Amino acid sequence: MILVTGGAGFIGSNFVIDWLATGSEPVINLDKLTYAGNLENLKGLEGDSRHRFVRGDIADYDLVLRLLRENQVRAVVNFAAESHVDRSIHGPEDFIQTNIVGTFRLLEAVRAYWGALEGDAKAAFRFLHVSTDEVYGSLDKADPAFTEQHRYEPNSPYSASKAASDHLVRAYHHTYGLPVLTTNCSNNYGPYHFPEKLIPLVIHNALAGKPLPIYGDGQQIRDWLYVQDHCSAIRRVLEAGRVGETYNVGGWNEMPNLEVVHTLCAILDELRPRGDELPYAAQITFVADRPGHDRRYAIDAGKLERELGWKPAETFESGIRKTVRWYLDNSQWVANVTSGAYREWVDRQYGVA
Ligand code: NAD
Ligand code: DAU
Repeated sequence: MILVTGGAGFIGSNFVIDWLATGSEPVINLDKLTYAGNLENLKGLEGDSRHRFVRGDIADYDLVLRLLRENQVRAVVNFAAESHVDRSIHGPEDFIQTNIVGTFRLLEAVRAYWGALEGDAKAAFRFLHVSTDEVYGSLDKADPAFTEQHRYEPNSPYSASKAASDHLVRAYHHTYGLPVLTTNCSNNYGPYHFPEKLIPLVIHNALAGKPLPIYGDGQQIRDWLYVQDHCSAIRRVLEAGRVGETYNVGGWNEMPNLEVVHTLCAILDELRPRGDELPYAAQITFVADRPGHDRRYAIDAGKLERELGWKPAETFESGIRKTVRWYLDNSQWVANVTSGAYREWVDRQYGVA
C-alpha cells in the first residue's frame, strides 16, 4: 500500500489513476480538498476497492501517523502543496503553511512511523517528494539547462516555499537517515489541469470568447511535459531511484509562452472553429507582467535517463493535441470547476471583465 498526498489535484489525480491502471497495489489518497482539489478527477475510480480517499491535511501529524500505521504503508508520494505562483504573490501565507509547515509535519509523522519499522519493511520504505524546477530560479537565454547541481535560487513565495520543503526532505535524510527521493519537474500540462494555469486557462477563455492574457511580452520560456510522463517518471524513481538522490524531470521541450498560446489557438481553429471566420489568436491580449516573473526554465533530465532509463513518451505536438481534445470532450468538468471561488480569483487577478 502507498500513501499519496494531494491526489485530488492535477498531477496527483493523474498519478493515482495511472498507478492503479498500471499495477495492482492499493493507494490511500490524503487530500485537504482546497480549491485545487477535486474529487471529480477520481470519479473513474468509484467502486475500485484499491483506492481509499481520506480528506485531511498533511500538517495533521496524528492523522498521517494513524494512516501509515493502520495500512502498513510502504511508500509515501508527496504531491500536496499550494502550487500557483500568482496566488503566492497575492497571498503567501497558505504556501508557507502547507508547503513548509505541512511538509515538516508530514516528515515528522513519517519519521515516527519509519523509525518503528524493522528489517525488510524498514529497508524498503521510501518517501518521495514531488518538487519543481522553479527552485533553481531563472535562466538567461544562453545558459545550460538546470542540472541537479544547480544552486537553489527561488524567486517567488511559491518557489521559496518549495525550496524550503526540499531542504527539509534533504535534512531528514542526512540527519535521521529517512530514505527519501526528490523529483524536480518542469511545467506539466494535460487532463484535470485547473484553469488558473496558462494552458487550461487559454483553452477555457478561447472557447468562452474571452481575452487570452499574455503576461509582459510573452517571451518567457517554460519546458513543457505531458502529465502522464511526469507520472511515469515518479513511478520509475520510486521503483529504482537511489536513496537520498534528486532527479530532474523534464520534456526537453522549451517554448516561449506566446508560441504555446498560438499553438493552442491553431489546434482550436482546426477542431472547434469560432464560427465567425476569425482565428482564436484574435483574442490574444497582452496584460501586465507577473511581478518577479522568471524568464526561462529548462530542465536537463539526463540523469534520470542515464541512471533509470526514463524518457518522455509524448512530444509537445502529440501531448498538446490530446490535451485540447480532452478539454473539448470534458466541458462539464471545466464548467464545474469554474464556478464560485474560481470566478473570484479571475476577478482579482485579471480585473472584472
Ligand atoms: P494542484 O494545486 O493541482 O494540487 C494540489 C493538491 O494538494 C490539491 O488537491 C489540494 O487540495 C491538495 N492540498 C493542498 N494543501 C494540502 C494540505 N495541506 N494537505 C493535503 N492536501 C493538500 O497542484 P499540482 O499542479 O497537481 O502539483 C502537485 C505537486 O507537483 C506540487 O507539489 C507542485 O509543487 C509540484 N509540481 C507541479 C508542477 C506543475 O506544472 N503543475 C510542476 C512541477 C512540480
Ligand atoms: O515549472 C514548474 C511550475 O510550473 C510548477 O512548479 C507550478 O506549480 C506550476 O503552476 C507552473 O508554474 P508557472 O508559473 O510556470 O505556470 P503558469 O501556468 O502559471 O504560467 C506559465 C507561464 O505563462 C508563465 O511564464 C506565466 C505565463 N502566464 C500565465 C498565466 C496564468 C501568462 O502569460 N498568462 C496567464 O494568464
